[in-house]
Formats: sequence, structure tokens, C-alpha cells
Amino acid sequence: MQGRRADLGPGLAPDVTLAVRRGTPADRAYVLDLGRRTVMDSVASFRPAPERHVFVALDRLYEAIDAQSHETLIAECDGSRAGFLLFLDELPDEVTSLPQGFIAYMAVEPSLRERGVGALLLGAAEDAARERGLPYMSLMVTEENLAARALYEHRGYRTERRLMSKAL
Ligand SMILES: CC(C)(COP(=O)(O)OP(=O)(O)OC[C@H]1O[C@@H](n2cnc3c(N)ncnc32)[C@H](O)[C@@H]1OP(=O)(O)O)[C@@H](O)C(=O)NCCC(=O)NCCS
Repeated sequence: MQGRRADLGPGLAPDVTLAVRRGTPADRAYVLDLGRRTVMDSVASFRPAPERHVFVALDRLYEAIDAQSHETLIAECDGSRAGFLLFLDELPDEVTSLPQGFIAYMAVEPSLRERGVGALLLGAAEDAARERGLPYMSLMVTEENLAARALYEHRGYRTERRLMSKAL
């Protein structure tokens, strides 16, 4: 995959470059670390969970991703890692069983948010999925995660089904 550059938003020097590349085994520790630093954003306020439980769930998610065909994308800002995106490329839609890409998790460094890094990663994942002939990209997002919803909704993602919960 070719690296892509983007116009960066306010707060970064104009000559800063942003690119996306395929991940390698050397990125593993970074993906684990940034995942842990960001995953609490996906916990709904009405289902509070201790961090240690959420971390165990994240570890299981990574194990499940490793067991399936997937792609890791790494965003770099002037050569330093700025975020990542993991997507599955052989996970059929569970209702239609038709092929689709599925974003398992993505995150951007807190200090580099709202500058287009997430959008660049998402666009690169969609390009990679199109290259594989996948007709859809899907994902799950916590309703209260307004930053993630804005990223997806502004790029054409629509709510197809709802995961509903009730405190008992
Ligand atoms: C969600 C996340 C990846 C977005 O990354 P980002 O680099 O800040 O996103 P971008 O700068 O590309 O912004 C994309 C759009 O979302 C909007 N957006 C980003 N953060 C926002 C916020 N906190 N509130 C409102 N809108 C926001 C931007 O304004 C932009 O809008 P536009 O498309 O109209 O230009 C980042 O906030 C993050 O890592 N969150 C923690 C982990 C997480 O929640 N991952 C998603 C799991 S499903």
C-alpha cells in the first residue's frame, strides 16, 4: 500500500507529513499500548466497568483478530506513530453472510486528534478493502463515543442495526 498524505488541521506545522503504512510485527507493542490508553472511551456510562475488565476484553479482542485474516494500518506523523486501525477482511456480514470488511478497533494519539489522522486511517482501510473486492465496511461504535461517531458518520457510515442493553 502506498503511503498517503493529507492536509493537516490546525496545531501542526504546515510542513508536517502524515502517511499510512501497513503494520509489521514491530508495531505490535504500540497497538497494544495505544489500545489500552484509549479503550475506556468505548465504555458506556450506564454500564460502568473496571479498567482491568475492559483490558481483559481488549486482550481477547486482539486474540480474536489474530486468529482471523486481518490488516493492521499504522498512521505516522513525521515518521512517528500517530495511530492505528485494525480491520478484518474475511468476516461475512452476520445477517446476509455476504463479504465485508470490519473495523475491529482504531485509535489516534490523544495529542494528535481532530487533525485528520482518523479520517486518513479510515480512508486507507476502505481503499485496502476495495482492493480486496469487499463491497462494504462495517464496525460497531459506542453510542456515547461522539468523536468516533462523528468520524464515521461524516464519512458516510449509517446505522444498520442497534446493540441494545438495559441495566437489570
Ligand atoms: C475516534 C478517533 C479515532 C478520531 O480520530 P481523529 O484523528 O481525532 O479524527 P479526525 O481528526 O480524522 O476527525 C474526523 C471527524 O470527526 C470529528 N471529530 C473528531 N473528534 C471529535 C470530537 N471529539 N467531537 C466532535 N467531532 C469530532 C472531526 O471534526 C472530523 O469531522 P469532519 O469529518 O467533519 O472533518 C479518536 O478520537 C480516538 O482515537 N478515540 C479513542 C479511541 C476510539 O474511540 N476509537 C474508536 C472505536 S470504535
